[in-house]
Amino acid sequence: MVSETVTERSAVQSGAEVLVASNRGPVSYALQEGGELSAKRGGGGLVSGLSAIGPEAGAVWVCAALGDGDREAVRRSGGLLDTADTGGQRVRMLDIPAEVHAAAYNGVANSVLWFVHHMLYQTPVEPVFDADFREQWAAYEAYNAAFAGALAEAAGPGAAVLVQDYHLALVPGMLREVRPDVRIAHFSHTPWAPPEYFALLPDDVQRQLLLGILGADRANFLTERWARAFAACCERALGPDCTAHWPRHEPPSVVAGPTAHRTRIGVHGLGADAEFLRERSRRPDVEERMAGLREQIGGAGRKTVVRVDRTELSKNIVRGLLAFRRLLADRPEWRERVVHLAFAYPSRQDLAVYRDYTARVGALAEEINAEYGTATWQPVVLHVKDDFARSLAAYRLADVALVNPIRDGMNLVAKEVPVVSDAGCALVLSREAGAWVELGADALTVNPYDVGQTAEALHAALTMPVEERAARTARLAAAATALPPARWFLEQLRALEE
Ligand code: G6P
Repeated sequence: MVSETVTERSAVQSGAEVLVASNRGPVSYALQEGGELSAKRGGGGLVSGLSAIGPEAGAVWVCAALGDGDREAVRRSGGLLDTADTGGQRVRMLDIPAEVHAAAYNGVANSVLWFVHHMLYQTPVEPVFDADFREQWAAYEAYNAAFAGALAEAAGPGAAVLVQDYHLALVPGMLREVRPDVRIAHFSHTPWAPPEYFALLPDDVQRQLLLGILGADRANFLTERWARAFAACCERALGPDCTAHWPRHEPPSVVAGPTAHRTRIGVHGLGADAEFLRERSRRPDVEERMAGLREQIGGAGRKTVVRVDRTELSKNIVRGLLAFRRLLADRPEWRERVVHLAFAYPSRQDLAVYRDYTARVGALAEEINAEYGTATWQPVVLHVKDDFARSLAAYRLADVALVNPIRDGMNLVAKEVPVVSDAGCALVLSREAGAWVELGADALTVNPYDVGQTAEALHAALTMPVEERAARTARLAAAATALPPARWFLEQLRALEE
């Protein structure tokens, strides 16, 4: 009975015309005590962007099982998940062996590729590419091969396959080998490292990553800066075998390899989903959270500096707190008059360096509260439990939003706050966030390493006249929603069909 259902489902799935592939899927499962499975929406920028595709696009989304709950869901469903759990989206989840997935995801994708593209290494002591790394790299190859195999099997003739992110950099090249008929795009949701930094990677690994992506017909990025860095890495690492073309009035491309395969380079700046955000942020659960936050803020007329991040090293939460402390130190007039709402949601807790960073954030918030707090004022209100309704509530209340990443592919928080804000919100924004290209003109720009400058920007933001704040917010919201997720996705699909 079970196997019949599985065969039926595979039949529905094979021959798909549009396929999306990413490590994290739109849903994750947890196994409850009674043995039943509960489904929850996946997190992060990639999932938020792709989730807006909607089931009507008819795409099949291929993703990996990330934990025991997911593996059980794959076992029970035969791989094609129940659409009741996925909002109608057809999702095929791959049960790649747990140890292979862990080595590929934690060992290579999160500990090496993420670090390279966000330039996070302390280079005097790391990275070290030794025998352990080579084992993890073999797992990364196997994990990419599993995706390529599943896509090759599920794609109909001439299908469009949209491969996402650094986890799956080898997939385009692998898929092209077995299915030269399909059209392939790769999308990088992160920054791309400058050539000198990318050159930290072993030479053969550099070549494999670049040629993997160049197996696609299109290599897409969030901003021109990251696209140009990619092209520069190709030229530097692939040598005379490779030429990047960046003509003034035509689309750029990279030609590489023995067959001189041409990969077009695209820039698609993912924007916020205004319609969804405006509707969602006016629901009663958000109003309820606003009341709760107002209580925590206390004191009539107190201002708020809001940040909402997953606790990733690249988000620069520690320097954000240091800047807030500096503001209180240098400008005592703000004591008792401002509260920093810092939402730092857990991320990648399998990695010790993330756990240490999370602990550092908590300890620093406590230190600031101990140093400056009074009986009636808690300077930093830190929340670490992911709560989307409360994030929206904070967006609505914010006088100032602090978005100060060391480096970020785009940063959707910077784009969401102006859309949702009730009375206008000043945006303090790192020039190293991809979003800065579109929002910089109406934001207060900071160098994310410069805590003194960030403190001054917070002061300027807090004292910005309300009319100016509202006018800037309106322009920020317009820029932030220029390319909403559904159009962002369709634009890539159309470009691939051209
Ligand atoms: C962020 C990045 C994406 C990445 C995702 C992975 O959202 O912008 O580029 O794919 O993190 O997060 P995860 O929690 O799956 O490791």
